[in-house]
Amino acid sequence: MPIRLIKPDIYAIGTIDWDRRLFDELIPLPDGTSYNSYLIKGKEKTCLIDSSDPRQEREFLDNLKALNIRHIDYIISHHAEQDHSGLIPKVLDLYPSANVITSPKCKTMLMDLLLIPESRMTTIEDRQTISLGNKTIEFIYAPWVHWPETILSYLREDKILFTCDLFGSHLATSDLYATDTTKVYECAKRYYAEIMMPFRSHIVKHLEKITNLKIELIAPSHGPIYNNPEFILNAYQDWISDKVKNEVVIPYVSMHGSTKKMIDYFVNALIERNITVKPFNLTETDIGELAMALVDTATIVLGSPTVLMGPHPAVLYAIYLTNLLRPKVKFASVIGSYGWGGKMLEMISGMVNNLKVELIEPVIIKGYPKPDDFRALERLADDILRHHQNTPEVIL
Ligand code: FEO
Repeated sequence: MPIRLIKPDIYAIGTIDWDRRLFDELIPLPDGTSYNSYLIKGKEKTCLIDSSDPRQEREFLDNLKALNIRHIDYIISHHAEQDHSGLIPKVLDLYPSANVITSPKCKTMLMDLLLIPESRMTTIEDRQTISLGNKTIEFIYAPWVHWPETILSYLREDKILFTCDLFGSHLATSDLYATDTTKVYECAKRYYAEIMMPFRSHIVKHLEKITNLKIELIAPSHGPIYNNPEFILNAYQDWISDKVKNEVVIPYVSMHGSTKKMIDYFVNALIERNITVKPFNLTETDIGELAMALVDTATIVLGSPTVLMGPHPAVLYAIYLTNLLRPKVKFASVIGSYGWGGKMLEMISGMVNNLKVELIEPVIIKGYPKPDDFRALERLADDILRHHQNTPEVIL
């Protein structure tokens, strides 16, 4: 990424990873990503904010060279994960008088993960400030966005909030700012779903903590900068609220067509009741799309055949992931079939201990669906509609 001037003496010097398609060997990246880093030249001190992923070492160090940076005093490390901190050891080698500024917990993690010597780091307290001469940086503890050590920093004079993973989006784009708002919204929501959703209750507190800051720019460490901070702040307020949509998400697998026949019938039954429905065939779906759908759905209905007494392994994976991501879903049910028996329901129930859901009576049938089974699916659709109508948090 070319170096871009954000404000006088404040530069975006991170890198764009156009080709990356998987993060943490887990998260699909259909739109690539970026590793944003910022450089602030104060009258007395120069400060680097985060670094880049080691896979883009050459591009990142070239940016530092191109800016002709001869001296760095501070390297702020918001978060120890390697996509932001991984090149800090290289920067410390190149700038022997630079000192890492971070939280005590992050310091320990940087020592553990990157072997950065303790002598090269200084810890700050929540709301502590450092001066660059004419510019002041305030640190704000914000644990669990996305690891327990994470902090934010606020450049007071320029009203820029640097948020690292928080408010980020996995989006490789030449746009410095979030101008294509439709695309950025989709990528930021996917990012929230995959990275931030398990920490919703923490984010509620963090947003309260920054509410009195005057913010002109929100500069995350993935994706474009927000020059209209309300855009992303309002989106987050929506995602972290207790409100859910009149919607049913259906992750499913079918082996011989019985479950598929039921899902097709059930999808139509929900549409007839004006409920938004999002089926995901787990043999083909992008798991990030499923995560995104879970952000604000009222209900999840799992569809599965019986495999060796339990759900299909792809459904087990979806349940496991949903339980980890802790969406604010209110209701759950199961649609499925079996040949001679099984313990599908017991196994599913035992895997959703993180979810505060009410189970609506499932429809699990023997063999191919028959008229009584379709009537049972109508009953399930009616039950879901009634639960949605009787729940104040569901936006009808
Ligand atoms: Fe972008 Fe949690 O690292």
